[in-house]
Amino acid sequence: MTGSITGATAVAGVAGSPIAHSLSPLIQNAWIRAAGFDAVYVAFSPPADRFSHFAEGLRGGTIRGLNVTLPFKEAALGVADKVGERAELAGAANLLIFNEDGSITADNVDGLGLLGALAAQAPGFDPKAGPAVVLGAGGAARGAAAALVMAGAPEVRIVNRTQARAEVVAGSVGGGAQAYPQDAAARAFDGANVLINATSAGIAGDDALILPLEATPAGAVIMDMTYKPLVTPFLEQARRLGRRTVDGLEMLIRQAGPSFEAFYGRPPPAGVDVRGLCIARLEAWSS
Ligand code: ATR
Repeated sequence: MTGSITGATAVAGVAGSPIAHSLSPLIQNAWIRAAGFDAVYVAFSPPADRFSHFAEGLRGGTIRGLNVTLPFKEAALGVADKVGERAELAGAANLLIFNEDGSITADNVDGLGLLGALAAQAPGFDPKAGPAVVLGAGGAARGAAAALVMAGAPEVRIVNRTQARAEVVAGSVGGGAQAYPQDAAARAFDGANVLINATSAGIAGDDALILPLEATPAGAVIMDMTYKPLVTPFLEQARRLGRRTVDGLEMLIRQAGPSFEAFYGRPPPAGVDVRGLCIARLEAWSS
């Protein structure tokens, strides 16, 4: 926000439920302020069964675009007239662009966030260098697996507590992905280049995931898509083993950049410490 809302203020936002603790408004408005243009980014929480009505009403330039988060990522695909390959493969959209001609374009930049976080926090990481392991079989896992297949991972292994769900994800992302039950995790971890936790275990006071991370090679990169807390018990376990780790906050920030660019046609301004702002906000919430 430039300080005051005008009749020409460009609006973009994020839709999800719950949404009050989204960090996206903090990130996007910090960039808008630094870039000094007349725009604002706000959070919306449409009723669970009204997402498509909500999005339909925004057609025709009412809003530049929307980031979409849980539980609307699949519904977001359904309202779009054009669906990009990344969203198609992920089976979900996290970015809707409302074009002036009234059409809606769906994209998914979570994969860019994931790969950007790996590049930032594990310099030199190459997704093509070896097998990738994804833990979980929900929407987050499917998105991560799709991104790794598209980035050229030679093999993608999906490990999940419920193996049948892992098989569905493996079948939908292509690239010869393989499903493993959780009790065969050590076998899936053998020779892994990267291991990504996309389960919801440990969130909301749930039991943290305890897996044989020592079965990964010493050079494996271990990532958690969750950022509450910033260093999850899963990442703590990986750090104790001396593995390089990547956190979910970096992924959130790295998907926010391409979203900003899609809304305003320019990359976010350099030199804004959005990570520091997010960490301060997370600390304030947890105290
Ligand atoms: P999302 O779409 O947000 O990824 P989801 O569809 O609820 O969420 O998926 C959550 C994932 O976390 C699932 O893979 C779930 O495993 P199941 O398919 O067996 O349910 C996994 N998960 C949640 N709690 C878990 C726990 N305590 N241990 C292992 N896996 C867990």
